[in-house]
Amino acid sequence: MEMKTAAEIIKENAVLTEKEINRLLQGSDKDYGTLFDSMLYSVNGGGKRIRPCLTLEFCRMLGGDEHAALTLAAALEMVHTYSLIHDDLPCMDNDDFRRGKPTNHRVFGEATAVLAGDALLTEAFGAVCGCVRLSAEARLEAVKTLSASAGAFGMIGGQMLDLIGETEKLPPALHNKMNLLKTGALIKAAAVLGCIAGSAGEDVISRACEYAENVGLAFQVTDDLLDDGSEAEKTTYLSFMSRGDAEKYALKLTENAVNALSGLDRNENLISIARALAVRTV
Ligand code: IPE
Ligand code: IPE
Ligand code: MG
Ligand code: MG
Ligand code: MG
Repeated sequence: MEMKTAAEIIKENAVLTEKEINRLLQGSDKDYGTLFDSMLYSVNGGGKRIRPCLTLEFCRMLGGDEHAALTLAAALEMVHTYSLIHDDLPCMDNDDFRRGKPTNHRVFGEATAVLAGDALLTEAFGAVCGCVRLSAEARLEAVKTLSASAGAFGMIGGQMLDLIGETEKLPPALHNKMNLLKTGALIKAAAVLGCIAGSAGEDVISRACEYAENVGLAFQVTDDLLDDGSEAEKTTYLSFMSRGDAEKYALKLTENAVNALSGLDRNENLISIARALAVRTV
């Protein structure tokens, strides 16, 4: 059988994820339809869908129930989308554009954007709880994974460090911690959710975490390389290293990720995705 390229795998998984998110978020209320418009504007806003892709591919590697993984993947992407809506707000990064389009608050206003984010976060947990293809134990594990990764000791903790970094220079170790949390936590959750849908044991989960932690850091190094110049005052990896060294660092992290999965059956897709992300241009 012909091997699919990483781009093809990512694209196919993105289409599946988008359908599932829209299924989960179907329905509206005629008295406040704008809330739903605002939520759908951002979930259908053209994200790369990297996190759901990892969830689906970990589940596939393990031969688990892909439909169950898809609900978890969609829920995680809803949490990611909420984090971006709030990240762009005037009180945070104050960005007018995301993915080449006006940010949520530029279209719907700040208050609606806050509520759309709140609603996406909350609906995501409802979606996991309603994933009837998973056992109650697996759903509970998924809820724990999602809340730990999105919460105060996860992504939000990283966002807080990012805020602190705006007024004081973060030393390299704290800067790394910020990235492990703000970007890494949800990427790690993506891998773990796939492991939950695939009923993985401890060994595979710990390799999946190792893979995702390295992919997550590489992802942020690349994000900084791609953003270079647009956020002049911010501490980024380029505050500590040259562009060339940052590129090398992203490749090194990617090889760590690849090595974490060595010896596992059906690891090809995850390996090619990690390598493709290291050289991404968007
Ligand atoms: C952007 O994430 C924010 C970071 C954590 C670096 P992505 O680059 O995955 O965003 P989309 O969803 O593809 O736009
Ligand atoms: C956003 O980080 C990360 C989260 C929302 C958790 P950034 O602020 O660096 O991401 P971009 O550059 O706006 O996508
Ligand atoms: Mg930010
Ligand atoms: Mg931002
Ligand atoms: Mg950035």
